[in-house]
Amino acid sequence: MSNFEEIKPRELKPALLELDGISRASVEAHYKLYQGYVNKRNEILGKLASVELGSANQVYSDFRALKVDLTFAIGGIKNHEVYFEHLGGPGGDPAGAFRKLVERDFGSVDAWRADLKATGMAGRGWAWTAYDWDERRLFNYIGDAQNTFPVWSATPLVALDVYEHAYFLDYQTDRGAYIDAFFGNLDWDVVNGWIQSYAIPAA
Ligand SMILES: [Fe+2]
Repeated sequence: MSNFEEIKPRELKPALLELDGISRASVEAHYKLYQGYVNKRNEILGKLASVELGSANQVYSDFRALKVDLTFAIGGIKNHEVYFEHLGGPGGDPAGAFRKLVERDFGSVDAWRADLKATGMAGRGWAWTAYDWDERRLFNYIGDAQNTFPVWSATPLVALDVYEHAYFLDYQTDRGAYIDAFFGNLDWDVVNGWIQSYAIPAA
């Protein structure tokens, strides 16, 4: 087993407690779930360090269970770090580099937004707009859990959490209204900062 270091949860930005249409109570409860993913990631990696490799078995083994659930914990960390980081802005239509990529790869901002919303309505956990480094374009991917179904070599730039924990307190079962509120709180400066730091080629 490789060496590992424990990680700590990122702090919640103060702006996250003042979102428009997503309540403080909802965000605070959501942040606790994120802290839980970080704790479980640390716990699982600690246990993996002492599991007997010879006991590995595909039907059931501690090694298998730890490896599978590690992907759920790490997915939960990465997904929520994107989610929390790019909320707290004024929403509205995307600007800058992201807008140009969207217009090239979806035809228009409205087409991108409609596709991402539909992806979020169809998913059981997540919808992401990600840049695929092999196809060199944006695509909206669907997810049913923290660890399904991301693809290799794609970098998420928008992460829409559609687990019920994200919206039930504020919207009960009206997921569509929550998705509209999500769009209304995105911070395009953050997304464009990621495009720059990842050196995603301009459209
Ligand atoms: Fe979540």
